[in-house]
Amino acid sequence: MKSYIVGNWKMNFTVGEASVYLHKLMQKLRTMREIEVIVAPSFVALQPLSLQLDRKKLRLAAQAGNPHDFGAYTGEVSYTQLRGIVDYGIVGHSERRQLFHETDKDIRAAVAAALRNQIAPILCIGETETEHTFGETKSVLRDQLIGGLSEVSTEDLEKILIAYEPVWAISTTTGTHLAAPDEVSEVIQYLRRTLRETYGEVAAKIPLLYGGSVNPSNAGAYLTIPDVNGLLVGGASLVAEKFISIIDTAKKVKD
Ligand code: PGA
Repeated sequence: MKSYIVGNWKMNFTVGEASVYLHKLMQKLRTMREIEVIVAPSFVALQPLSLQLDRKKLRLAAQAGNPHDFGAYTGEVSYTQLRGIVDYGIVGHSERRQLFHETDKDIRAAVAAALRNQIAPILCIGETETEHTFGETKSVLRDQLIGGLSEVSTEDLEKILIAYEPVWAISTTTGTHLAAPDEVSEVIQYLRRTLRETYGEVAAKIPLLYGGSVNPSNAGAYLTIPDVNGLLVGGASLVAEKFISIIDTAKKVKD
């Protein structure tokens, strides 16, 4: 399976800055068959960046999307509108769940909408600090995983990526809240097993990514966990040197 390195830029960069940054990334990256590099800029930058993009080196993802095709949804952007502009869509990021109150039902609908518009969903799942403390991690993840995928056909399962992002490990600056690779490993094995028990053989084809304060110094430890097929990177993806260093690590781990 390929490795996937996804940069989630969140609400950062003006369109001009995003364009300059993309240019820099494309200059530094080589075409790699075994690594898919994906960046997720703000909506407003997606269309201009899609014209600038060398798809052999990089792909674009949306950070969110509205599951309806068109209609009276002021301020929203649908997967139908994103079709042809992005190849991937981040769905159910914990910030969307928490700050914008996206429910499991919304997320399920977004997975379906992305797929029907030829956009590969990167379904994010993760437990909060409280759920983690109370030992609810596995049951929470199971609900988010099976709930998010419940309307996906067996054929479409192969197009899905899953990102495990413990909410308590996202954007920690102190490093005290980093998820230990052993702990991530246990969760990843659990997710793979759950997918296999629920969907059978196709489970082996679904990439499992890790995300949560990934940086150049810890990327290698996460990427060498068995069954981890990539990383979802927030803060560190905003700095070209750091993002490229993480991609280089992924390449070394692959080699
Ligand atoms: P972080 O963000 O790398 O800054 O923790 C990851 C994410 O939210 O996807």
